[in-house]
Amino acid sequence: MATLILNASEILTLAGPDGPRAGPDKGTLGVLRDGAVLIEKDRIVAAGPKAVVLTNPLAKGAKILSAEGRVLMPGFVDAHTHPVFVAPRLEDFQSRLAGKTYADIAAAGGGILSTVNGVRGAKEADLTAGLRMRALDFIASGTTTIEAKSGYGLDLDNELKLLRAMRAVSGRGPLEIVATFLGAHAVPPEYKGRKDDFVERVCETMIPRVASEKLATFVDLFCEKGYFDLDDLRKIAAAGAKAGLKLKVHAEQLSRMESLGEALKLGAVSADHLDCVVEADLPALAISGTVACLVPGSNYFLGKPYPPARRLLDSGAAVALATDFNPGTCPCYDMRMIVSIACTQMKMTPAEALVSATINGAHALGLGATHGSLEAGKIADLACFDAEDHRELAYWFGSPKTRWVMKRGEVVYKAS
Ligand code: NIG
Ligand code: FE
Repeated sequence: MATLILNASEILTLAGPDGPRAGPDKGTLGVLRDGAVLIEKDRIVAAGPKAVVLTNPLAKGAKILSAEGRVLMPGFVDAHTHPVFVAPRLEDFQSRLAGKTYADIAAAGGGILSTVNGVRGAKEADLTAGLRMRALDFIASGTTTIEAKSGYGLDLDNELKLLRAMRAVSGRGPLEIVATFLGAHAVPPEYKGRKDDFVERVCETMIPRVASEKLATFVDLFCEKGYFDLDDLRKIAAAGAKAGLKLKVHAEQLSRMESLGEALKLGAVSADHLDCVVEADLPALAISGTVACLVPGSNYFLGKPYPPARRLLDSGAAVALATDFNPGTCPCYDMRMIVSIACTQMKMTPAEALVSATINGAHALGLGATHGSLEAGKIADLACFDAEDHRELAYWFGSPKTRWVMKRGEVVYKAS
């Protein structure tokens, strides 16, 4: 039986042109005030003015779901997370509050490698169970699809363990997980001082294996001083391309490596972070097909300056927003908090932030044709929020607002 959703104060359809939204489309929400959404099985059959949707033969006899005067929109698409880990990094947190930097902490044995120790000591079943719990937290905050990176295993078996946990959780649902192999997240202790050998291992052994088991869609690396450089980026992109993996890059995060320019040349689907971009980087980004995926929750948590979102948007770049959920730099899975930070700290408008958190997040995952907007033929992933006006989603921060969430046509979360 079809489902007909009525009585929303606003339906944000996000309907618009194909391709990542930028320039004049950067804040177009496609708001309907007397709208309806018709769903059959896992797909949207129609979304538009109520009078038009009601003419669809499937609307007759459909089950009615009332949005009760609230905002209805596509579920958030969170295009950058590192969600498979064992424990929070409370020592790192406390050291940083005492004045240490992310780099100081990593040099002293904390940082990514401390999470690697936890993952290496964990069973796949426990990682899977932990991720399943976190998946429900994402869903309850209105996120229906995430990208998830490995990168806390750093050897073949442990990276496979992380990716298999993602596959198991995504397969069971309701949260859909698009996996990224981030083998080059840090040089593991057994390769200390032998970065090039590790990169060779990543390219020659790990990428082909991950791809042959179809465990990832993307390959990524942490292109940063003390981690991996532009040569490594080129090698990993080439090995990924050969194995059929698309490219994402942690680019210009803590320092400017010129990794954005290189990522554009390599046709990256997204370049993420971009805290240290400069004006000269912007024209090439604006004419590229690469999405600038900003993760300002990590700036908030590390107490660092924000990426220049306004400059990026105004120069014509397609901007996505994501949480970067991870134990080191952003232990926040709530996209509404990220939308709030984007507005208050980076001066994005609520409409721009919501475009970035939905349809442009989908484009940052290569899923723009099926996810991220309420249009006929797309997957029925929706979230209904306790708000009458979409600007409230950025305005009320720090308090849950989700009323219900639908994934593939089924209501999978309801606020109590
Ligand atoms: O996106 N930059 C590298 N990776 C993560 C941090 C991972 C960690 O500290 O555990 C990030 O900020
Ligand atoms: Fe990250």
